[in-house]
Amino acid sequence: MKALLGIRGMGAAELERLVHRARHHATLLPGGRTAEKSLVNITVGMLFFEPSTRTRLSFELASRRLAGEVVIFDPDQSSMSKGETVQDTVLTVAAIGLDVLVVRHREVGMPERIHGWTGRPVINAGDGISEHPTQAIADCVTLLERFGTLAGLRVGVVGDVLHSRVAGSLLHALPLFGAEIVLVGPEGLLPETEHPTTTDLDEVIETLDVLYLLRLQRERGAVADAGYERGYQLDEGRATRMKPDAVVMHPGPINRGVEIAASVADGPRSLILRQVTNGVPARMAALEAVAGVAW
Ligand code: CP
Repeated sequence: MKALLGIRGMGAAELERLVHRARHHATLLPGGRTAEKSLVNITVGMLFFEPSTRTRLSFELASRRLAGEVVIFDPDQSSMSKGETVQDTVLTVAAIGLDVLVVRHREVGMPERIHGWTGRPVINAGDGISEHPTQAIADCVTLLERFGTLAGLRVGVVGDVLHSRVAGSLLHALPLFGAEIVLVGPEGLLPETEHPTTTDLDEVIETLDVLYLLRLQRERGAVADAGYERGYQLDEGRATRMKPDAVVMHPGPINRGVEIAASVADGPRSLILRQVTNGVPARMAALEAVAGVAW
C-alpha cells in the first residue's frame, strides 16, 4: 500500500488486514510499549494544516511506539506565511527527508495530490468532508473489542452526516464487516447514499446496537435550526430507551449539551475514550502499511 487515502474502494480483505494488525498492537499496548520496532530508520512527518488533538497525538505516539522518528510541521510557524504554496511546502519537506507524510487539510483530495507531487507514502488524517480512514479503523477495533463481531450490528449514524469525513469513511468500512447502517438527522444534513435514512431518532433508537453521534461541523458549513438539540441530542431520557447492550460512540471532539448530554458521554454505554485509545494501534497499523513494513 503506497498511500492510505480512504476506505472507499477498499476491499474487505485489505481493511480486515489493517484492523487485524491494529488489534494485534492493541493487545500489546496495555502492558507497555510494543516490542516491535518496525519503523526504525523511518521519519514520519505530521502535516496538519487543520487543528487536531487526538489524531495528531496518536499518530505521533504510534510512530514513536514503533521506533520511528517524528517531525512536526506547524503551518502557522512555517514559510507559508511568506507565500509558499502547499505544493512547494510539501516538496520541501520531502526533500528534507521525511519518508511518510501524515496529512490533514480542509480541501478534499489534498492528501492524494500531495502523494502525487512528492511520490511519498501518504496517510489521509482527514480531508475536508471526504474521508478519515484511520478513525474508521480505530472504530472497527473498538466495536470488535466490545461485540466480537460486527456482522448483524445495526449502527445509527446520527447528526451532521453530510459534513462528516468520519462518516465518509465509516459508511464504507462497517458494511465490509457485515454491519447495517441507518443515517439519522435533519434532511439538510443527510447525504444521498445507499443506506436507509430517517429524520426521526425516536423512531429507530430502540432498534440500534450502536448510536454513533456526530457533532455539527459548523466550520464546514453545517447549519441547524433551533430544534436540533430537541430532535437529535442523546440525552438521558433517550438513552434509557436504548437496547440493554447498546453503546454510544463519537469520534470527538464532543459538544456536551448539543449532540450528547454530558451524563451520557461519561456514562457506562460510552465507548468514546476507547475510540481514542484505539486510535494509537490503528495508526500504528496504518503507518506500517504505507511504510511497506511486512507483517
Ligand atoms: N476525531 C478526530 O479527528 O479528532 P481530532 O480533530 O482531535 O483529531
